[in-house]
Amino acid sequence: MRQKLVAGNWKMNLTYPEALALVGEITSLAGEAGAASAPTVVICPPFPFLHAVGQQLPPASNFHLGAQNCHQKESGAFTGEVSAKMLASVGCEYVILGHSERRQYFREDDELLGQKLKAALAAGLKPIFCVGESLDTREADETFKYIGKQLTDGLFHLSNEEFAQVVIAYEPIWAIGTGRTATSAQAQEVHAFIREQIARAYDAQAALDTTILYGGSANAQNAKELFSQPDVDGGLIGGAALKAADFTTIIQSF
Ligand code: PGA
Repeated sequence: MRQKLVAGNWKMNLTYPEALALVGEITSLAGEAGAASAPTVVICPPFPFLHAVGQQLPPASNFHLGAQNCHQKESGAFTGEVSAKMLASVGCEYVILGHSERRQYFREDDELLGQKLKAALAAGLKPIFCVGESLDTREADETFKYIGKQLTDGLFHLSNEEFAQVVIAYEPIWAIGTGRTATSAQAQEVHAFIREQIARAYDAQAALDTTILYGGSANAQNAKELFSQPDVDGGLIGGAALKAADFTTIIQSF
């Protein structure tokens, strides 16, 4: 179901005490004030902090727990890996998949991401599936072609029921961690394109029902403008999610 949503991707940052302090600050600043109209907030800490951070989130509130990755198999001899089922068992409801950092540094391709999506869905997790073009692709005027292919190859193999569980995040690679945000018009243009592609692959209702987030140097200053776009339903926030005051301002930017 389409919803206003802000996810904080903490990436590989913070120690355990710092993580607990940050989530404490966020929940006390953002509180549950106006919880009925408040957006869904998904906090995505590193694996070792998941359970403890989840315990700090007010129960039955708009705060939810998410992970940053999962393995494609349910269990087995995969030293160092973490399965979707394990994540669900510590209280995760969401998992980020296909982040450009995973695609680039860990060579995650569409085939592998397809398996991870299936594993996440089978464990009852909602995937936050990332797509986004590089600067070269944008400058070659191939953004739509590239994103269209990422959607078709990465996501549109899911059944209608499976797809209904997915949140999409548009994250132009050139905007991630660079301080160079897409303009709200650039974000809106790609979000509208993504919605069109969903309508083609599934149907018009599925397109209307999908939550599509923007990510890439979104911050306390530009969130309101980005979120005011008709096809932008919220944000996947990296750097600014590590500062409680900034993250709270972003949550309150609808
Ligand atoms: P950023 O990261 O907000 O630091 O640009 C966003 C992301 O990578 O999810």
